[in-house]
Amino acid sequence: MNLDKFKRYPLTFGPSPITPLKRLSEHLGGTVELYAKREDCNSGLAFGGNKTRKLEYLIPEALAQGCDTLVSIGGIQSNQTRQVAAVAAHLGMKCVLVQENWVNYSDAVYDRVGNIELSRILGADVRLDAAGFDIGIRPSWEQAMLDVKAAGGKPFPIPAGCSEHPYGGLGFVGFAEEVRQQEKDLGFTFDYIVVCSVTGSTQAGMVVGFAADGRANRVIGIDASAKPEQTRAQVLRIARHTAEIVELGRPISEQDVVLDTRYGGPEYGLPSEGTLEAIRLCARLEGVLTDPVYEGKSMQGMIDKVRNGEFPKGSKVLYAHLGGAPALNAYSFLFRNG
Ligand SMILES: Cc1ncc(COP(=O)(O)O)c(C=O)c1O
Repeated sequence: MNLDKFKRYPLTFGPSPITPLKRLSEHLGGTVELYAKREDCNSGLAFGGNKTRKLEYLIPEALAQGCDTLVSIGGIQSNQTRQVAAVAAHLGMKCVLVQENWVNYSDAVYDRVGNIELSRILGADVRLDAAGFDIGIRPSWEQAMLDVKAAGGKPFPIPAGCSEHPYGGLGFVGFAEEVRQQEKDLGFTFDYIVVCSVTGSTQAGMVVGFAADGRANRVIGIDASAKPEQTRAQVLRIARHTAEIVELGRPISEQDVVLDTRYGGPEYGLPSEGTLEAIRLCARLEGVLTDPVYEGKSMQGMIDKVRNGEFPKGSKVLYAHLGGAPALNAYSFLFRNG
């Protein structure tokens, strides 16, 4: 496997820390040891997150092409667009963001607080669009690029979740390399890696990265799209493409992609009671914040799997905390009583 041949523009602090989730592990009976790798604090750029790691492999291309405007798309509370806005500011570039109506939720200030507030503060040209949830390529986003060109700018398109970009999976191949390095220092290896999956390139990159040491199917994706067939197909496609470009040396099969579909409901962006319970439990036992759209669902999935005995006794489980806590502000009504 060869990741080093790709240029990487540093946007993160370096390897993100791995911390034990001791009290949560004990609370769940102590049968498995839970750890978290903290992508939620991987950068000083507007709180960072999984997209910041992905962008490290996209930005060299934007710079090489002489682009002056990053153009991206997401839901109203998209973490990706907030991270793109921060990276654009950091690089002295402009930023246009198309924010669509992906979520059936309307807290009074849903389009004012949290991620979208931060993107506006970061100076992005934020455009609200009425279109609904879809993780593919959208006309509104293409229109934004045309607008930049018409104004004499040079846009660099960054698709939803970075996932349709040919290099979108590379960042999380790097994540696996980083974990292997950290495992040497820790003196043990992880049996399972739990990751939230929606647009797919986070899990796809991990599948490829961990395939290099035989752990592809130990990456347990937890679907948060509530459209799991679409997410699964996207993970598989991106993993196959990524495996080729990094020269993994073996094809990615359907069995390499594990996606648990039990926790995505009731809809993308809406938490179930179980998700809210998981958010509170992790916050109160560990002081670690997860959000109702993504990480609360993967946290719920991990907790539920421990409770069901789905991880063999003694397993070491690594929860990939991908960020997303800034969206909590947009869901204040759900937590009005704690
Ligand atoms: C906090 C957080 N977790 C998980 C995900 C899912 O990652 P991916 O879209 O690469 O599947 C995202 C973005 O979509 C996210 O912002």
